[in-house]
Amino acid sequence: MTSRHLLTGHVLQYAGNPLAQPWADAVHIAENSAILIENGQIAAIGEDARVSGPDVVHHDHTGRLICPGFVDAHVHYPQTAIIASWGKRLIDWLNTYTFPEEMRFGDPAYAAEIAARYLDLALDHGTTSVASFCTIHPASVDALFEASAARNMAVVAGKTCMDRNAPEGLRDTAQSAYDDSKALLEHWDRKGRARYAITPRFSPTSTPDQLAALGALWAEHPGVLMQTHLSEQVDEIDWVQGLYPEARDYLDTYEAYGLLGARGVYGHAIHLEPREIDRLRDVGAGLAHCPTSNAFIGSGLCDVMGLSRAGQAVGLATDTGGGSSFSMLRTMAAAYEIAQLRGEAIHASQLLWAATAGSAAVLHRSDEIGTLAPGMMADICVLDLASTPAIAQRAREAGAIWDAVFPTIMMGDDRAVAQTWVAGRCLRQS
Ligand code: GUN
Ligand code: ZN
Repeated sequence: MTSRHLLTGHVLQYAGNPLAQPWADAVHIAENSAILIENGQIAAIGEDARVSGPDVVHHDHTGRLICPGFVDAHVHYPQTAIIASWGKRLIDWLNTYTFPEEMRFGDPAYAAEIAARYLDLALDHGTTSVASFCTIHPASVDALFEASAARNMAVVAGKTCMDRNAPEGLRDTAQSAYDDSKALLEHWDRKGRARYAITPRFSPTSTPDQLAALGALWAEHPGVLMQTHLSEQVDEIDWVQGLYPEARDYLDTYEAYGLLGARGVYGHAIHLEPREIDRLRDVGAGLAHCPTSNAFIGSGLCDVMGLSRAGQAVGLATDTGGGSSFSMLRTMAAAYEIAQLRGEAIHASQLLWAATAGSAAVLHRSDEIGTLAPGMMADICVLDLASTPAIAQRAREAGAIWDAVFPTIMMGDDRAVAQTWVAGRCLRQS
């Protein structure tokens, strides 16, 4: 007999997008509520969920917050082992730390080791889905999808394509990028919970021919995602302008080659021109806000609240390992701090929404992840709101529930993750 699982505690519930409407209308914490998991999915929430029987296993999370599993909208799993490397800004950081490490993924055994290590770290932190760049090596994509299939995680990934401005051994060609991406896409996309993303790293490391080849591939497979980087640092934007003198702006280097669309996910997008802002919103593209990374490698203060108010879809991302943490709690805290530096306070409900439903939406996976509702996959993160003495003393004094949640967002880490569930299986329990 397969078990059903009953989780009781405070349950995070969404009725809309709190970045586009008043947060109190969109997000609600159902206190002392319940979730029933059956056959890998959420079967019921609230009073309907309170069933009993010999097949029902009860997980009592009284005082804890039951959230959708975190969805990290932009990561580089191959950078796991170089996270928190000191002292460089983007281009130097890529050349000094990132490219040498990515070279090691020519060894499929190393790729498999890091893929497993990365996903295990993600689960430790309550992250149940990610969209990851791989390396130029097709085996690095196989490694991540094999590791995610073993855990039944909903993962988006793609072979990173680069045919210039990268070291020997880390370059493909326009043709091989097309051929390898096509073969990987046809093999992996929609295999179980795997989804493929065509992945040009960014305009400086692709020739126009390569961008055109990947644009053509996307046109042939419009159902897949496309992920890349956009306007992260001012020096990078100047470099792009020199490499693509015809382009109206950075986004135009993608647009001109068929790499702008609703299924596109653009990482960082900090220093945008008005035309870029309008185009991204009008085509329905998604942005991945990477606040720890944007601070750590000195990129800038993204106006994520202004972009959201203007109708832009935005998810939240660690950008491991340009970002300095695997934790989406730490990432929410950084988003809060960066907004404060811009003169705005993001509410806890907005931060949690961005880290779950917001990211799921930009990855076009809202039908299965990012929200707790009947019929959704049971990908769940249970947060202990008193995980350290410092947080506990602060939460104890809290009046309203949101005042008890916010200290965990600002001060919490993997110790706050009481359980992580993936497709109805509890994979982490503290
Ligand atoms: N731009 C191009 N590649 C990268 C990368 O690996 N990390 C970050 N943060 N930005 C990039
Ligand atoms: Zn990135």
